[in-house]
Amino acid sequence: MKFFIDTANVEAIKKAYKVGILSGVTTNPSLVAKEGVKFEERIEEILQAVPSVESVSAEVTPDAVTAEEMIAQANELIKINNYDKNITIKLPMTLEGLEACRYLADKGVKTNVTLIFTVNQALLAARAGATYVSPFLGRLDDISEDGVQLVSKVAELFRIHNLDAQIIAASVRHPDHVTRVAMAGAHIATVPFAVIEQIAKHPLTDQGIAKFAADWKGSSR
Ligand code: G3P
Repeated sequence: MKFFIDTANVEAIKKAYKVGILSGVTTNPSLVAKEGVKFEERIEEILQAVPSVESVSAEVTPDAVTAEEMIAQANELIKINNYDKNITIKLPMTLEGLEACRYLADKGVKTNVTLIFTVNQALLAARAGATYVSPFLGRLDDISEDGVQLVSKVAELFRIHNLDAQIIAASVRHPDHVTRVAMAGAHIATVPFAVIEQIAKHPLTDQGIAKFAADWKGSSR
């Protein structure tokens, strides 16, 4: 399973990129709004910060409701990095979003269909040519459903029917989500930087480092 970072904060993106574990970035209107910056400018900054990742998802804004409006926004976003392949247009899971997805996929543009909460929605997105589908597990857990189980079922369905779309486990909230979606067959988990920090750490690792340091200091070398 690959890691994308789920943020519009450039400093966090740069930190994760430097560690060398990053394959992509996802953003959404809420994450960009939190930064208080201009959307297109922030996407450009992100694209420049992570030149070698496979995907940077830029979501069409909530003002785009029809497929035509989404495609018009997508065409502007694609221009930001001179039609390079790593910009991915993120589209909402609606019939209009699917129509835009099919159009863009046929033009060779990468797409990420977001806000997926059922297996059927994932199937539709894959059939509309989505490069990525994004089931939101944390938000399902929030309403007492099992988000990881959804990822597991979508992974099984894509295997049975040889569907190429990659599953991005999104709305990942904590380390246990990461382990469980990896085991469930997600191709990618998109995670906040805080979760990357959490999964890198273990108290016994910290204790071990402290003990090595103390022993080294007290040795007679
Ligand atoms: O990747 C989707 C994510 O940004 C939503 O996460 O925690 O708001 O459900 P959350």
